[in-house]
Amino acid sequence: MSAKNILVLPGDGIGQEIVREARKILDWAGKTVEINIEEGLIGGTAYDETGTPLPEDTVVRGKAADAVLLGAVGGTQWESLDYSVRPERGLLGIRKELGLYCNLRPAQVYPQLADASTLKKEVVSGIDIMVVRELSSGIYFGEPKGVETLPNGQKRGFNTLTYTTSEIERIAVRAFEAARKRNKRVCSVDKANVLECTELWRDVVTEVHAKSYSDIELSHMYVDNAAMQLIRDPHQFDVIVTTNMFGDILSDLASMLTGSIGMLQSASLGDKCALYEPIHGSAPDIAGKGLANPLATILSVAMMFRHSLDMPEQANQVEEAISRVLDKGFRTADIAMAGEKSIGTVAMGDAVLAELP
Ligand code: IPM
Ligand code: MG
Repeated sequence: MSAKNILVLPGDGIGQEIVREARKILDWAGKTVEINIEEGLIGGTAYDETGTPLPEDTVVRGKAADAVLLGAVGGTQWESLDYSVRPERGLLGIRKELGLYCNLRPAQVYPQLADASTLKKEVVSGIDIMVVRELSSGIYFGEPKGVETLPNGQKRGFNTLTYTTSEIERIAVRAFEAARKRNKRVCSVDKANVLECTELWRDVVTEVHAKSYSDIELSHMYVDNAAMQLIRDPHQFDVIVTTNMFGDILSDLASMLTGSIGMLQSASLGDKCALYEPIHGSAPDIAGKGLANPLATILSVAMMFRHSLDMPEQANQVEEAISRVLDKGFRTADIAMAGEKSIGTVAMGDAVLAELP
């Protein structure tokens, strides 16, 4: 097996702490496969050091790597900066520059944590949903956008929701392909009753389905109904495919079915590059305290092993190790039940490592 090159971007807030734990897993895998790890800058940390949240060097090295591992970006100290240099711009920028249009966000409930959800156990246990979020277009990137001052002195803010046929086709293909390896059902979420752009979305998804995916069951749902149905009866969903902004919102919602956003990994894929990151943010409130749950980042590494590095065995081993750690009752604060003892970030990373062969 040839050497694997990974670019690690810890970013801001708890990003630094959780990525440190995930690196232990990369080092473990490095005992059997040659893995070269480089670190780079992104987000507020990058802004402080270089004046931009996405240095060119990060983009160049991200494109050259076999995969990128990212922690999180953002923090209160950067909130007053101009939009163009906010930490979040670094994240949107790298998604765009690396052509990462397909964001896979699985939401699975660990049986050991079924009680950790705020929803009833019988509603959430056994759910296994894959949110396929379009990641490099839509209202996040559409032009024109901005805030202008009108002649009457009022301000007017605007963003534009756009999708082209090919942008919808390629994400639909990813969703149908994902469904083929799962339970063969895709629910496409839009707001076609109000937004023309998502009427096009619905038409194109329907066409792609008719052309090549008649073995997959396709349904359509308006986003407001989808939010309700996810809480009412999440078992009805297998793959959900949706736009950038709806996917942002629904994936946070789906994460809460599983008990904690601290448990959920994600993959952002393009035709050439790949980036893996936990779906949670930089959690400024607990940053630097050693309390953050590193499991979503460690699970992101497992996903990287499987999707980008051709290391499915190591991916299974990491996932099984996490399961055993949970069996043994190890919990970080976000997944501990009232009265349960919790451990910190480093201890959780070490507990996973101790379960690996
Ligand atoms: C996410 C985050 C980002 C997004 C932010 C930090 C820009 O919420 O990855 O879900 O909105 O995409
Ligand atoms: Mg989000």
